[in-house]
Amino acid sequence: MAKHLGFIGCSIIVALSLLFSATEARQYHVGDSFGWNTPPNQTFYSDWASSKTFFVGDSLVFNWTGNQNVADVTMAEYNNCTDVTSVFTGPSGTVFTINLLNPGRRYFICTVDDHCERGQKFSINVEWPISSGLSPSAQPTPFSSAPTLSYGILSAFLSIIAVYFFTCV
Ligand SMILES: *[C@@H]1O[C@H](CO)[C@@H](O)[C@H](O)[C@H]1NC(C)=O
Ligand SMILES: *[C@@H]1O[C@H](CO)[C@@H](O)[C@H](O)[C@H]1NC(C)=O
Ligand SMILES: *[C@@H]1O[C@H](CO)[C@@H](O)[C@H](O)[C@H]1NC(C)=O
Repeated sequence: MAKHLGFIGCSIIVALSLLFSATEARQYHVGDSFGWNTPPNQTFYSDWASSKTFFVGDSLVFNWTGNQNVADVTMAEYNNCTDVTSVFTGPSGTVFTINLLNPGRRYFICTVDDHCERGQKFSINVEWPISSGLSPSAQPTPFSSAPTLSYGILSAFLSIIAVYFFTCV
């Protein structure tokens, strides 16, 4: 096995396993039970997002009723509630998932009528699991089943050793 993979192949597998073992991927239902609908006030979705820490590998589930859509926009478009043409649309009852594959800040709005102006918009920062896991400030965990910080680091450490021996030795 080792002969076929080589050092670089081994290193990539070990690095990836380290990254994804540090934090379990989570699915976030945008707006929780309220779903992705015209909110009761302008801060509803920014409040929802600000209480969470998002990592590469997590996903956002947009679940809506009535006439809604999702646009993945730039900061300028987000601030301005720009009526962009590239949107994810679907009828009432649509459940739409966006996978967060890269680190960085992301902006989501609904471009239907004045929904964005009324607060159907939020911005999140997507972080690498390992850099956050090792940062001194502990992350708030969204679910009680979430691994604790030390558990995350321990399981990452153990799995990297296991993966190293199974794939590289
Ligand atoms: C916005 O609405 C939510 C849900 O009704 C409520 O919990 C929150 O306090 C409201 N925020 C403001 C600023 O009114
Ligand atoms: C979507 O939202 C509706 C209404 O809140 C809920 O009954 C349904 O279970 C949700 N579906 C998913 C896949 O979250
Ligand atoms: C701001 O939004 C309005 C309404 O969607 C649009 O006409 C205008 O072009 C936008 N401006 C920028 C700079 O995006």
